[in-house]
Amino acid sequence: MSQNLSTEPVVAIVVAAGSGVRLGGEVPKAVRPLAGRPLVSWSVAALAAGGVTEVVVVVGDGLQDVFAEALADAPIPWRIVIGGATRQESVARGIAALPPGEIVLVHDAARPLVPVEVVRAVIEAVRSGAPAVIPVVPMSDTIRQVAGAGSVVVDRSGLRAVQTPQGFARDVLVSAHAAAAGREYTDDAAVCEASGYEVLLVPGSREALKITEPYDLAVAEAIVAGRR
Ligand code: C5P
Repeated sequence: MSQNLSTEPVVAIVVAAGSGVRLGGEVPKAVRPLAGRPLVSWSVAALAAGGVTEVVVVVGDGLQDVFAEALADAPIPWRIVIGGATRQESVARGIAALPPGEIVLVHDAARPLVPVEVVRAVIEAVRSGAPAVIPVVPMSDTIRQVAGAGSVVVDRSGLRAVQTPQGFARDVLVSAHAAAAGREYTDDAAVCEASGYEVLLVPGSREALKITEPYDLAVAEAIVAGRR
């Protein structure tokens, strides 16, 4: 890459347009309170602490006002756009609304407690020239692959669980998403890989857990209490 990225602003897309049915509750998952503050507010604050300068938050249709209220205390400028039927489509809509900046992070609103060190590491790796960067953690459980009625144990030493924020050179993310339209991938690194870009792994953190079920919210509450 010929660009000098050392002074580039870092912009982020926070995807928050999922239904969150597994968590239950009356309000959309991303605005559920964690220690009295909406998940999306935690996520944006974590990105800002790590060096993100502006954020696009992708939300479900009709929820703009709810999210605007949840973001009222955000430490960086934000804009809201309406998401799509899949996570990939929601990211694509976020890309279309991105402010200027050659380094782009994509983060799940459902990972409110990502540590500042992880955000910084992802940004630094992109600044250093990596086209696509993902935070990962080793598997702690024994893993089995099921096939029909049977199952086989898998060697977990070579497996990693992938987290967010994922970081990208802007032109890489933009062109890879355009090329991937119509084919579904579960994350943006896979989208970039499909276009031939190499994906760099950096250490993630257990604290960057994705809030999916009520149990996860209880764990997150405990993490927040431990940080105080
Ligand atoms: O469904 P999953 O847990 O993989 O979602 C990860 C993130 O993607 C969540 O933050 C969710 O709000 C977001 N998402 C989205 N648009 C969708 C589906 C998921 O923004 N259509």
